[in-house]
Amino acid sequence: MNFTRTKPYALLFLPVGLLCWFCVVQYTKPGQLPPDEIILSDAVITKAVAHDDGNLPPKADRAKHPKIILFWTSFFGGKNSYLGEEGERLKICIVSECIMTDDRSLWNTSDALIFHPLDFNPSDVPPVRHAHQYYIYFVLESPHHSNAGPPGFFNLTFTYRLDSDIIADNYLQYFRPSLWTKAEEFDAVWRRKTRGIAMFASNCGAPSDRSNYVKLLQRYIPVDVYGSCGTMQCTRDTKEKCDNLVGEYKFYLAFENSICRDYITEKAIRPYAVDTVPIFLSGANYSHMFPTDSFIDVQDFKSPKHLARHLQHLSHDKDAYSAYFRFRYRTRTNPHNGLPPRLAPDNVSLCKLCEMLHAKKRVRKFYPNLEDWWVKQADCKQPQWNTFYKDML
Ligand SMILES: *[C@@H]1O[C@H](CO)[C@@H](O)[C@H](O)[C@H]1NC(C)=O
Ligand SMILES: *[C@@H]1O[C@H](CO)[C@@H](O)[C@H](O)[C@H]1NC(C)=O
Ligand SMILES: *[C@@H]1O[C@H](CO)[C@@H](O)[C@H](O)[C@H]1NC(C)=O
Ligand SMILES: *[C@@H]1O[C@H](CO)[C@@H](O)[C@H](O)[C@H]1NC(C)=O
Repeated sequence: MNFTRTKPYALLFLPVGLLCWFCVVQYTKPGQLPPDEIILSDAVITKAVAHDDGNLPPKADRAKHPKIILFWTSFFGGKNSYLGEEGERLKICIVSECIMTDDRSLWNTSDALIFHPLDFNPSDVPPVRHAHQYYIYFVLESPHHSNAGPPGFFNLTFTYRLDSDIIADNYLQYFRPSLWTKAEEFDAVWRRKTRGIAMFASNCGAPSDRSNYVKLLQRYIPVDVYGSCGTMQCTRDTKEKCDNLVGEYKFYLAFENSICRDYITEKAIRPYAVDTVPIFLSGANYSHMFPTDSFIDVQDFKSPKHLARHLQHLSHDKDAYSAYFRFRYRTRTNPHNGLPPRLAPDNVSLCKLCEMLHAKKRVRKFYPNLEDWWVKQADCKQPQWNTFYKDML
């Protein structure tokens, strides 16, 4: 081979080679990963989307005849949160020509009536039921702390279950983790992580038996338990102060009170907001909700001992810990600011409802009995962790 002829090529490859060496080094630096490795779960179910499929009257007509959504019952004795700040989000819908109210005198002209079964009184229902109206079953608690409501009553379901007619976004709407462009952002997070594992709980005898799971975990690794089930206090004068405290922990035990299908609460969202890695215990399949590799699921570990071993490892290994923050890097292949599409900030529950009410051909639906769907199909588990792990400790 003629050396002098290859020389110009070699010179050409030199900067390319340097550049590639640079990319490799950059990509393997803690917290910095190649964009193509950022994978978001695509197994995402949504029904809460507003889109015009030709079944909607023009906007001007909708504005002339807005639909009325009447919150007939109270919510645990108070106002439904969609009548407050959460309802404000109706304004960002493509189909937003709906009026939300709890003024019962509007029952006759309402298009949807929302009922919370725990506040439901069978002798306190609208005097007449019109065929065009939807009676809506609205629940945010697990079947352990709610009920299926009266049989032969509801047209639509509006709950946290992903197979509801309208998926309630009360908690998921707050899933807005900060997104990063530089590895230094992870370094700053790592420096803040001066504490280990935190948990906040006030209901100690929950059906998920989370207190006992934590006690088993504590045999192998320290856990700071705040609230009446533990020994630590975060004086709740400001929510911000406690959130900042959570931000100093590497891990947050987001253990739900119930282990039931799709059941999550604001507990699941909180750690993301303060750059802490959540450890989940619930009946939800979190890979349908949150970016894959952004959380730890108790059910992926053989026992609390195995989980503790993994947490020990992550606590001392910056690179391994940083893997849980991969999804924070903004990329072109990562739309919706890093969120699965159904969690996109403009996929709002109320948009879906308002759209259904304006549809020229309204979906006809009726549930003779929700008991089977709400209770049986929720597949709730009531474990006793002490017995379950008896031979594995
Ligand atoms: C309720 O609406 C019906 C038409 O759907 C109307 O005939 C009736 O007068 C209304 N009743 C009241 C109390 O407004
Ligand atoms: C959760 O969902 C993922 C993705 O669809 C699936 O691979 C996995 O088997 C599910 N896990 C459970 C426990 O259902
Ligand atoms: C809402 O979710 C659906 C289904 O996942 C998705 O196709 C759509 O793009 C989302 N809408 C927005 C505005 O992100
Ligand atoms: C709701 O259910 C009632 C009772 O079966 C029915 O008469 C009504 O037509 C249903 N409404 C809609 C909009 O499907």
